[in-house]
Amino acid sequence: MAEQLKVALIGCGAISGNHVGAILATGEKLVALCDVKTDAAKALKEKFSLADAAIYTDWREMLQREDPDVVHICTPHYLHAEMCVEALKQNRSVLCEKPLCISLAQLKQILAAEKKSRGQLGVCLQNRYEPNQIALKKLADASGCKGASATVIWRRDAEYYASGDWRGTKKMEGGGVAINQAIHTLDLLQWVCGMPKSVVAHAFNDHLKGVIEVEDTVTALFETSEGKRLSFYATTAGAKDFTPELSVRLLSGETVLCRNDLFVVGEASAKVTPKEPMLGGKLVWGKGHEALIRDFYDHVRTGRHFPIDGEEGGKSVRMVLGIYRSNGKPVTL
Ligand SMILES: NC(=O)c1ccc[n+]([C@@H]2O[C@H](COP(=O)([O-])OP(=O)(O)OC[C@H]3O[C@@H](n4cnc5c(N)ncnc54)[C@H](O)[C@@H]3O)[C@@H](O)[C@H]2O)c1
Repeated sequence: MAEQLKVALIGCGAISGNHVGAILATGEKLVALCDVKTDAAKALKEKFSLADAAIYTDWREMLQREDPDVVHICTPHYLHAEMCVEALKQNRSVLCEKPLCISLAQLKQILAAEKKSRGQLGVCLQNRYEPNQIALKKLADASGCKGASATVIWRRDAEYYASGDWRGTKKMEGGGVAINQAIHTLDLLQWVCGMPKSVVAHAFNDHLKGVIEVEDTVTALFETSEGKRLSFYATTAGAKDFTPELSVRLLSGETVLCRNDLFVVGEASAKVTPKEPMLGGKLVWGKGHEALIRDFYDHVRTGRHFPIDGEEGGKSVRMVLGIYRSNGKPVTL
C-alpha cells in the first residue's frame, strides 16, 4: 500500500467537516470531494484549505478518475446502499455514515458486495469510541447484563426538516427519530447487552404532524434470546437536545447509568466520573469520529478486519426496521 491512503468523500453537507477534519488529522491524503451541489464541495474545500483536492458532482466519475483506496459516504440515507455496493465492487474500502441503509433488501446487497470485495466496509457508529461507552461495555462483558433501558430526547423542529429535501421522508431518510437521531443508542444497546431477537414497538408523529411523514417519537421493548429485556424511548419533541442515556442492570447486581458525559455505578450519589471530552463533534451524538476514522484506516492498512462492518452496522438497522414493522405486535428481527 502507498505511503498515504488516497481518500475521497461523497456528500459535503453538515457532517462532512467532521470527516475532513479527522482525515487531515490522520495524515492520509484527501484527493477529492464530491457533491451534487458544487458550492457545497467548494465551501468544504475552502474551509479546510484543501488546495489539491479535486471537486466532482458525479461520484462514479470521481471513483473512476481518482482511484481512491478509501471512500467516505456522507450522503442522505437512501443513497448509502448504492454507493457502498459500487465502491465495494471496485475493491475500495468504504466508511459509510449511519444508518448503513434503509431496508433489509439493501442490507442484503451490501453484505453480498462486502463478502466479495477486497475492500473493507466500516459504519460510522462513533459513540462506541466514547470513553464512558467503552467502560460500560467492559463492565457488561465482565459481569453479564441482565437488562437495560435507553432514552434519546432531542429537539428537531420544522426548520431542521426544511434544511434538506430528503429529511423527514420515508423514501429518502427511511424514517424519523429511530433511523436518524436514535440509531447510535440502539447500536450501543445491542453492543453492550447483545442483539435482540424480537421487538414490540410503537411509532408516533405528534410533535411534527403535517410537517414530516415519518415518526418523531418511538417506544420499543426488545428481547434477546436469553430473555433480556431492553426498553427504549426516543423523541425529537424534547425541550432541547439532552445527552442520550443508557441504564444497565449487570448480573453482578450493580446498575450503571451511562452517558457520554456521565458514568454512575450504583446509586446516583455513589460514584460519578465525568470523562475527558474528546475533540470535535457534539456531546449528544458523540465526539468519536476521529477515533473511529483512525481505527478504520489502521485496519485498512494492516488488513485486519474492522469490527463495525456490514453485519455489525446492520444490527441497528435491523432494530430500527423492526420498530417500524411492529405497530404494537411482536416481530422477529
Ligand atoms: N455520525 C453522526 O453522528 C452523524 C451526524 C450527522 C449526520 N450523520 C449522517 O451523515 C449523513 C449526511 O448527513 P448530513 O446531515 O451531512 O446531510 P446534509 O443534507 O447536510 O448533507 C448531505 C450532502 O449530500 C449531498 N448529496 C446528495 N445526493 C448526492 C449525490 N448523489 N452525490 C453526491 N452528493 C450528494 C447533498 O447535496 C448534501 O450536501 C447522513 O447519513 C446522516 O445520518 C451522522
